Amino acid sequence: MADNCKPVTVFPCVFVCEIQVSQQDLDDTFQPPFKSCVLDGNVASVMCSYNKVNGKPTCADKDLLEGVIRGDWKLNGYIVSDCDSVDVLYTQQHYTKTPEEAAAITIKSGLDLNCGNFLAQHTVAAVQAGELSEEDVDRAITNNFIMLMRLGFFDGDPRELAFGSLGPKDVCTSSNRELARETARQGIVLLKNNGALPLSAKSIKSMAVIGPNANASFTMIGNYEGTPCKYTTPLQGLGASVNTVYQPGCTNVGCSGNSLQLSTAVAAAASADVTVLVVGADQSIERESLDRTSLLLPGQQTQLVSAVANASRGPVILVVMSGGPFDISFAKASDKISAILWVGYPGEAGGAALADIIFGSHNPSGRLPVTWYPASYADTVKMTDMRMRPDTSTGYPGRTYRFYTGDTVFAFGDGLSYTKMSHQLVSAPPSYVSMQLAEDHPCRAEECASVEAASDHCEDLAFDVKLRVRNAGEVAGAHSVLLFSSPPSAHNAPAKHLLGFEKVSLAPGEAGTVAFRVDVCRDLSVVDELGGRKVALGGHTLHVGDLKHTVELRV
Ligand SMILES: *[C@@H]1O[C@H](CO)[C@@H](O)[C@H](O)[C@H]1NC(C)=O
Ligand SMILES: *[C@@H]1O[C@H](CO)[C@@H](O)[C@H](O)[C@H]1NC(C)=O
Repeated sequence: MADNCKPVTVFPCVFVCEIQVSQQDLDDTFQPPFKSCVLDGNVASVMCSYNKVNGKPTCADKDLLEGVIRGDWKLNGYIVSDCDSVDVLYTQQHYTKTPEEAAAITIKSGLDLNCGNFLAQHTVAAVQAGELSEEDVDRAITNNFIMLMRLGFFDGDPRELAFGSLGPKDVCTSSNRELARETARQGIVLLKNNGALPLSAKSIKSMAVIGPNANASFTMIGNYEGTPCKYTTPLQGLGASVNTVYQPGCTNVGCSGNSLQLSTAVAAAASADVTVLVVGADQSIERESLDRTSLLLPGQQTQLVSAVANASRGPVILVVMSGGPFDISFAKASDKISAILWVGYPGEAGGAALADIIFGSHNPSGRLPVTWYPASYADTVKMTDMRMRPDTSTGYPGRTYRFYTGDTVFAFGDGLSYTKMSHQLVSAPPSYVSMQLAEDHPCRAEECASVEAASDHCEDLAFDVKLRVRNAGEVAGAHSVLLFSSPPSAHNAPAKHLLGFEKVSLAPGEAGTVAFRVDVCRDLSVVDELGGRKVALGGHTLHVGDLKHTVELRV
């Protein structure tokens, strides 16, 4: 961990802006992923961040650390600060007057461990000054020592224990390398295909592999990375099956005007049977402490793609390697660009996995995990504006697939396959579900828009959704079934919400069943304006693709 601790850069947003988050957005959007990690994933550690939320640094927020994380979610483990965030709340945010006060307030709020050396320097003085009790320190130490025990620190000589003898030889095994390749294959998303993909390697005499990420190695493993034993770059992956001609097109990913090498790239595309363009980003464009300010491809990359596509003799496959999304509407609309793939940062075997997909030995099944907005979105929406819900009075468009209803370049969940999958409902959920309210429940006497998603009326209130998925195409493939629900409009509810997903692998002609258990109070509830969970009464529409079914919730 210590090796990954970077010096703190004071970037204006985190330390100066007051991030305001409503209770509704906090409980409905920002906390659920963390809650799921603690409750469903049983993580052993939670890290509090550098920034303030609603005026309070998170490492000094007792309601959050002790109340929510350790209290409501029952964290079994320790809470650690982001590196130097205790220092930052004193020296940069001036949240406390003295360093001792910073040590005291964070430990008393529930912090157990500090990544950095601030607590080591100031905790003793805080206790001596009477700002912190030894009992509070004991609690933190106890949580840390329990973790050391769970990790086997007191179980004897590490060389004699199972994990003590692990080394590089255990990392670079063929099965681990195959796992890296399979992971990349499963993550790659096919966003456009006019039929050009998969390519037949046998019929290709020459392939132009062009772009600043065409021979990417380190870029593929992203940020906060380990050290792989071997990389397979896109050029190397594709070159294992066909003859390639490589042109970077730009000397770097930033691709400013004077790094553009258009004529050699255009010439390569003009004489090849097929062109694969690998563009996108790297850590010079997006990383911790470096946010993008535009959704367009960096520098002159759009010009490179257009010029190469115009000049190509054969089909053009555009590959975007990046962490974040891009507005590539021009490529989506272009007849010259036959197919588009998003590979994320695909890891050490990314180039091999890309070749597996381009040449069809693997059928893509990845889905987009985020909305790809048009470039104008970044100009309209301040990235420090945390509101999820649209505000029609100011033209604020809202955020994410759950609330944003404007145009997208590609939508959350998009992802094509080389085969055709069809869905069919096998056992339809009921058309209505009745809740038995207690005798004295106010909603028995008067009409309510919603009832609380807790207490007796929630018990055993669940139903099944079963779907039959059929592979109606010619090739085997995996398919993710995404089940969404659209709740009634009470409480400014999201337009839709992903209830769950299941992936099935099917041979050509084969059919399989996918089942979801929908718990009414857990899965169909929304968060109200004050942060309470409510189940809206009325029609909840469940949908998978074009398939829709409405369940009426009554009391
Ligand atoms: C591609 O990248 C690899 C790994 O960094 C390097 O060894 C190789 O020389 C590069 N190939 C070309 C043609 O530049
Ligand atoms: C590509 O071709 C189109 C139509 O022929 C032209 O309008 C456009 O300027 C060309 N783009 C580039 C970047 O050469």
